[in-house]
Amino acid sequence: MKIWFNGKFIDSKKAIVPILTHTLHYGSGAFEGIRFYKTENNSVIFRLDEHLNRLFYSCSVLSMKISYSQEEIKKAIISLIKLNKLDEGYIRPIVWYGNKMGLYPGQADVNVALAVWPWESYLGNKPIKTIISKFIRLHPKSIVADAKISGYYANSVLASLEAKNKKADEAIFLDYKGNVAEGPGENIFLVKNKKVYTPKRGSILPGITRDSVLALLKDLKIPFKEKEISPKELKFCDELFFTGTAVEICPIGKVDNTFINNGRIGEITKIVKDLYCRVVRGLEKKYLKWLNFIK
Ligand SMILES: Cc1ncc(COP(=O)(O)O)c(C=O)c1O
Repeated sequence: MKIWFNGKFIDSKKAIVPILTHTLHYGSGAFEGIRFYKTENNSVIFRLDEHLNRLFYSCSVLSMKISYSQEEIKKAIISLIKLNKLDEGYIRPIVWYGNKMGLYPGQADVNVALAVWPWESYLGNKPIKTIISKFIRLHPKSIVADAKISGYYANSVLASLEAKNKKADEAIFLDYKGNVAEGPGENIFLVKNKKVYTPKRGSILPGITRDSVLALLKDLKIPFKEKEISPKELKFCDELFFTGTAVEICPIGKVDNTFINNGRIGEITKIVKDLYCRVVRGLEKKYLKWLNFIK
């Protein structure tokens, strides 16, 4: 597998970083997760511009200056996919501070790498089991919540370990107020009486899939609202699903000991999931604007 590493395509075995890398110690990196899909004649990348906008924004939060333009990164991603001869998979851009110890990154070098690999749906396609985590989502005054920064993921890793220890597939975070926030790498949606709800911005990473789902709901004329959601509402809802680049649209069948919709995928979840699957593969003309074609 080839990796794009600071402007060069190199073998993945040679794409290595020194031990005294700032980001390895302090989590001071920014990254993205992007998917590309096989279509009838070629492949398409889903919402690449929005992902790169978020990457550059996350870098700015860390005062990181990337020495490549967004257009250069975009071209490099397309070339990397072609070089690795993949037609469907995942794209991981990462930007990190290099060889410097001490918290203040100061004059540390800024590095960029791009990796691609085939990746099936992250949590499978069946309704999953979740637990409400004992860890809360990072307090929005401790971090910049709408940036995707490496160090934040220690919180996500702890919740994922907790979920696996409790024989669940994934965790659900509450926020510092005790309201539902999101998954360790997913946003969450709830359906009650044919209306869809999702937590408001504030303590969550406002995902690009979340944004896409809100747009699809609007076009489907399914009513929705962003609001504060209590953990009790989670357990008394009709349907529940996660959204995210990795999981795509993932039905949730159980929260702690409570089954949701008898552990089956709900009607609205299925409509959204099916439409999303078509949209990302370029089968819906209206949403071709979200796709970058790899020719
Ligand atoms: C904490 C968190 N929330 C939500 C999401 C979903 O975001 P997106 O739909 O942009 O992949 C992700 C994935 O990036 C995430 O890591």
